[in-house]
Amino acid sequence: MRLKMEYRISISLVAVLLAASLVSGLVTGCRMETHSAPRVPDTGGRDIHVARADGGTVAPEVGLRAPTGRFTRAELREIAELSPLGSPPRDPTNDVTDDPEAAHFGQYLFFETQLSESGDFSCATCHQPEHGFADPRRLSRAAGRTPRHAPTLLNVSFQKWFSWDGRDDSAWAQALDPLESPDEQNTDRLAVAHLIGDNPELRRAYETIFGEWPDLSDPERFPEHARPVPSDLDHPEHRAWKSMTASDRQTINEIFANVGKAIAAYERKLVSGHAPFDRFVRGLKTGDESKLEALSARAERGLKIFVGKGHCTTCHFGRDFSDGEFHNTGLPRRSWLKSRDLGRYTGIPTVKGDPFNALGPYSNAAPDSEVARELEFLAQKPENKGQFKTPTLRNVARTPPYMHGGHFETLEEVVRFYSELKAPVAVAHREGSLEPLHLTDRDISDLVAFLKSLTGQPLPERLKRQPERPLPE
Ligand code: HEC
Ligand code: HEC
Repeated sequence: MRLKMEYRISISLVAVLLAASLVSGLVTGCRMETHSAPRVPDTGGRDIHVARADGGTVAPEVGLRAPTGRFTRAELREIAELSPLGSPPRDPTNDVTDDPEAAHFGQYLFFETQLSESGDFSCATCHQPEHGFADPRRLSRAAGRTPRHAPTLLNVSFQKWFSWDGRDDSAWAQALDPLESPDEQNTDRLAVAHLIGDNPELRRAYETIFGEWPDLSDPERFPEHARPVPSDLDHPEHRAWKSMTASDRQTINEIFANVGKAIAAYERKLVSGHAPFDRFVRGLKTGDESKLEALSARAERGLKIFVGKGHCTTCHFGRDFSDGEFHNTGLPRRSWLKSRDLGRYTGIPTVKGDPFNALGPYSNAAPDSEVARELEFLAQKPENKGQFKTPTLRNVARTPPYMHGGHFETLEEVVRFYSELKAPVAVAHREGSLEPLHLTDRDISDLVAFLKSLTGQPLPERLKRQPERPLPE
């Protein structure tokens, strides 16, 4: 709520500044003075554009230009990569990613507490709409306690690996983990199937999207509760799962996968771009001075550090500020975390062995598609120890605490960490490319001001709660 207000305020500030500059007949304002750029007479948008281009820095290969003294051409090239956000890429593993009915059904399921053993928890217990779909707690609590921090789901469908260790290669396969995890919702795939089959509304929604519902009425073939529990082969639900025929298990897996696919279609709607930073880049593209006001002078300095001496874009690059890969940043130990979380090292065999991966029977991707091939060639290496996924930085100000274990409470602490890199590394070795930046206090607060400019437009309220019915009216 407060963030929304701030965003509105900054928009109206920009509008006021723009109006003021029109009235005075000059394109002016504190920014120009800060950077001591030459004042340009107002000769109409187009001419100003050309006039400034003559005196400014131009990176024609990326279509950006900046007033004199503000960015180098190399910096402009880095900046161009970061904006605009645009729409998420297609997910070839999920045929219903863009189906509005699937997204609606998925939204219903996302908020549905009956999808937990106790009836108390849903995805929104930990991915809280009012906290940028992240958890404001370091670790989450539902049926149990999670060993890691719950990240934001805003812009999640821009990613190619899911969870901090990338143990899933699609958003739909990821959605199946928390449903059965004893730490999270602790239900099981048979209970989920029966819940849908026994509820006329849910069943009608399912059939509308995925086709005919199979007959699950024989309790001998389809027990009330069953799931694979590889870590405990004597678990009654594991034994019940093993007692089923391969083809009945497949029938249930199909339903379970479809539940994930509907939820992923909903997650695809959780897009939040159009941040002040994007407006600023638009200004560098169009020469529209009023848009350059979207960043304060401090945030602009922070941006210069981000793409320059901070080397942040080594990993946080692209329109989602993430390379989609995994790194060991050498985080310190924390008392609330287990001592050796190997991250990507264990994520690789998990995703390769997952029947719900891009190569598996429930994926809609062709076996020769890029996602499937990438998975095939993926191999575990020693340097994967202690690596975690580079998170998006869009909306980062909305979602403290930070890092895979909620290591830091504030953005300032995160930036100070990168600046000093002095605490002993908890797991394996810090990546060689990371060296202490020795930033000044002012640099640190400028970088933080820049990170705060990455807060995108708020989501419509209708996406932040459970719809009344599983299908649109
Ligand atoms: C008990 C809290 C909890 C619940 C309930 C929960 N999650 Fe999560 N979620 C987490 C945690 C913790 C992680 C990080 C997991 C990890 O990396 O090991 C996570 C990770 C994710 C991710 C990966 C995001 C990324 O950037 O990689 C997605 C997507 C997600 N959850 C979706 C869901 C959905 C959909 C549901 C409901 C079916 C759900 N979650 C239920 C805590 C929860
Ligand atoms: C070597 C790659 C790399 C570089 C360089 C890098 N980061 Fe990161 N960043 C990561 C990874 C990986 C994580 C998650 C680490 C974890 O949780 O284990 C992360 C996490 C973060 C987070 C926390 C986000 C969240 O939601 O928890 C912030 C903020 C951040 N980085 C900002 C920066 C800034 C600012 C710079 C430049 C000073 C920078 N990063 C440089 C890889 C990098």
